[in-house]
Amino acid sequence: MTSNPKHPDATKLIDLAALRQKSVLFAALTDAEAWELIGLSRQEYASARQDIYQVGQAGDSLHIVLEGRVKVSLLSEEGKEAILSILGTGEVFGEMSLFDGEPRSATVTTMERCQFLVLRRQAFLPFLENRLHVMLELIAEMSRRLRATNTLVGNLSFLNLSARLARILLNLVQQYGKVSPQGIVIGLKLSQEELGHLVGVSRESVNRQVRTWIDAGIIDYDHGTLIVLNSDALFREALAS
Ligand code: CMP
Repeated sequence: MTSNPKHPDATKLIDLAALRQKSVLFAALTDAEAWELIGLSRQEYASARQDIYQVGQAGDSLHIVLEGRVKVSLLSEEGKEAILSILGTGEVFGEMSLFDGEPRSATVTTMERCQFLVLRRQAFLPFLENRLHVMLELIAEMSRRLRATNTLVGNLSFLNLSARLARILLNLVQQYGKVSPQGIVIGLKLSQEELGHLVGVSRESVNRQVRTWIDAGIIDYDHGTLIVLNSDALFREALAS
């Protein structure tokens, strides 16, 4: 852990070197700028399954994830959920309302215990002035998210359930996969309901597909932990539509 003598309280638990590796925002800052930004923010903790924002709420701050993961989702009037994205250490959320002043565009919920840095608009906008490179990193990140959402919409419109689920699993392997003697373990616990919300179908439909793949030796699923046993077969499923 690193601490900065200028801001001992605000920074005592922050490992800047580790944060830099995972955060496009912090990677774009010099050490002095990073500590300045940390000094402008406050730290916040939340336990698992807490709503940090609810869609439609007013908001003028953004959150940077220091530890843990959150899901970004939309809820239908009947309470159905669609997961747009899962964000982890170093990633930012809340930038949309901070920049455009509109209500929160989605609900953000912790998936595990989380630690955040929270930045208010009135502190962040003056910090961005004369720092075009930081602004460009944020725009690039928003572009990546728009691309990912385009892919999501395209997949929902054009692919069947097995191809969609296979693509989601391969994506999770890329982000959270760890090679083990049994196969590639996805280091993110997801219920079958949450898997359904990621692919846009009911838990029952996901369950049927998961069973088929378990029987075929393609994956294993144990108490929320997914293991990919045959990634070639999963690739083939992802390409069949
Ligand atoms: P904001 O609208 O302030 O609050 C909800 C946040 O969720 C939003 O800012 C973004 O940070 C994040 N968000 C909204 N839509 C998406 C998406 N499609 N992909 C990833 N993150 C999103």
